[in-house]
Amino acid sequence: MDYLLLAKKYGTPLYAYDFDYIENQYNKLKKEFNARKSLIAYAVKANSNLSVLKHIAAQGAGFDCVSIGEIKRALMAGAQNYKIIYSGVGKSDEEIEQALNLDILMLNLESEEEMKRVESIAEKLGKTARISVRVNPNVDPKTHPYISTGLSENKFGVSIDKARKMYLYAHKSEFLDPVGIHFHIGSQLTDLSPVVEASNIVSKLLRELKALEIDIKFFDVGGGVGIRYDQENDPDLYAYAQGILSALKGMDVTIICEPGRFLVGNCGVFITKVLYEKTNDAKPESRKRFVIVDGAMNDLIRPSLYEAYHEIDALKEGESELCDVVGPVCESGDFLGKNISLPELSSGDILVVKSAGAYGFSMSSNYNSRPRAAEIEVKGGKDRLIRKRENFEDLIQNEKEFI
Ligand code: LLP
Repeated sequence: MDYLLLAKKYGTPLYAYDFDYIENQYNKLKKEFNARKSLIAYAVKANSNLSVLKHIAAQGAGFDCVSIGEIKRALMAGAQNYKIIYSGVGKSDEEIEQALNLDILMLNLESEEEMKRVESIAEKLGKTARISVRVNPNVDPKTHPYISTGLSENKFGVSIDKARKMYLYAHKSEFLDPVGIHFHIGSQLTDLSPVVEASNIVSKLLRELKALEIDIKFFDVGGGVGIRYDQENDPDLYAYAQGILSALKGMDVTIICEPGRFLVGNCGVFITKVLYEKTNDAKPESRKRFVIVDGAMNDLIRPSLYEAYHEIDALKEGESELCDVVGPVCESGDFLGKNISLPELSSGDILVVKSAGAYGFSMSSNYNSRPRAAEIEVKGGKDRLIRKRENFEDLIQNEKEFI
């Protein structure tokens, strides 16, 4: 990608996504499960731009959604309803009703109470709800605590014992059809052996259920496949897939996995422009250089929220010095990078924040009344706008009639 050209053509701050990269990542993962029936259900939350979803749907992927809004986005982008999974700890009655009416593949249940709610809504609609239960296998994914989800101290899923009870109940219910079993233990795992460990634990329950003639057809291992932001090792996809396959030996189930970051994380960059440079006046040993850019924590919150590292490239040579790359938002936590080595910069220079395709734009906000960035795709060497830059009118449209 010619970042300078893109910055000039579309302005900054800007998200740019390489669609060919997404396709490659999809094929890489899909290939590992060739020996079996499998469905790659992209986790929409990672990047929910309609054109991104359309591109992923065109590969034959399914979608893992956590709100009715995400389901509607996926459908609008061309997803087939029978490839959509609906997960999430807090589905509202309206969302459950709409999901049942849309005849999606299955609803992933996260509690007994939710199961009863789904049952009564299905009864009211005269439908049978296809469901799976999210099992919390109590496995440590060894990742950042905020994105770790598979320990019993986390709010997600139910224990194996509770899941067993739920399946027995659902099996007897006229309005519930248990078709899947699910877990997701955490995100950004560069060592995927905890997923294999969880597969072994959850497949034992699957075997029990099959023995009871509860016909589970889908084994969903969640997302979590990590990517390289810095010096991390690329995860071993072969060992991951083989580990899951061997946990399922002798059982006829379709494997589902729900990658978000793996498909889109490294397809995207966040392009921002230098506004100013300044150095504080403290003593030489505590002297600090700040590079102030036009992108901020409202555009890309990962560094502020998780102290996540994103490589920042200045696109120019020169003697480098450490600096903090900060945005215009009124918070000390507003930074895109800390202690980053960058050459001398001047107003108008472009910085490229790498690995920003996942949980970048999708977690952005209008904090400080900042319009959100534009998004573009690059496919086969051609660039195209896929989301207009917001303007002031967009920010006030739901308020102005009340003033
Ligand atoms: N499936 C379920 C049920 C999930 O909760 C998630 C992510 C995924 C799949 C996709 O996980 P992935 O393949 O992307 O690791 N905002 C955080 C990440 C939060 C992930 C939440 N759940 C970040 O910026 O790192």
